[in-house]
Amino acid sequence: MNNFISTKGLSKETVELILSRAGDMEEECFQGKIKPLLKDKIIACIFFEPSTRTRLSFETAALKLGASVISAENAAENSSSHKGETIEDTTRILCGYADAIVYRHPTPGTALAAAKVSTKPIINAGDGPGEHPSQGMLDLYTIKKELKKSDDLTVVFAGDLLYSRTLKSLVPLLMLYPNNKFIFASPKELELPREYISELKKNGAVFTEQNDLKSAIAKADVLYMTRVQKERFADVEDYNKVKDLFILQKEDLKNLNQDAIIMHPLPRINEIDPAIDADPRAAYFREAQNGLYVRMALLLYALGL
Ligand code: NCD
Repeated sequence: MNNFISTKGLSKETVELILSRAGDMEEECFQGKIKPLLKDKIIACIFFEPSTRTRLSFETAALKLGASVISAENAAENSSSHKGETIEDTTRILCGYADAIVYRHPTPGTALAAAKVSTKPIINAGDGPGEHPSQGMLDLYTIKKELKKSDDLTVVFAGDLLYSRTLKSLVPLLMLYPNNKFIFASPKELELPREYISELKKNGAVFTEQNDLKSAIAKADVLYMTRVQKERFADVEDYNKVKDLFILQKEDLKNLNQDAIIMHPLPRINEIDPAIDADPRAAYFREAQNGLYVRMALLLYALGL
């Protein structure tokens, strides 16, 4: 069995293996011939934070592979955590019911804490502003599929980089491949945490930071927009001040390379003008669809199948 807590420390070989499996899953879904490799397995999806894509694509992935699903989609209210139960105790109990546990939680480190006491594989489906490794994997899958490569790219991350967990899972994956460069474009208030920047420097990442979006667009092979994470702000006034500072408008696309792609983990609030959706470079809905295939592959990986 394999936990899937973080993309840091994954080998290129493991990543490629999972992505190739995801390709097989996509093909099987397309053909309508999916092998029921998870028959008789039970997958628990326990979400302490809202989710549409992540939870429902994990559940769909499990069902497509023949597993059954038990879930708490509002575990902060509906599980015993509301009464004060620790994640460790909840995990010990779920291990008696399920074969794998998918957790989303607002506190960084929660999936890791669960994994320490778990006898079943734990998948981190987002731990606050920490990581979101299955999103990182589906983002890499999308880049490879759309651009036919994963090296020698300039990837512009734009918006709320302070709280983005999807960035923190995608960057280590892209660093497995040669010559990838990052431009981190955000309002001053939403810059990447300084400790994270030091870590990137220590790990040899090639990147620049800037406080405007427009001048980065022309340089992008991948323009990765993010939502301002309202739920992470202690004061809603602080959120209101920054929420609309980075908006991609249709007229900005004239500066974007013809073969570049626009990505977004979704949900999109104001960051991307819906008029952009019809542009072939808008890859975000295809990206969300890829999540299903990648999560099928991740469930198989977690269960060692
Ligand atoms: C992201 C998340 O939850 O981190 N969404 C997702 O999983 N598709 C991004 C977000 O909520 O803004």
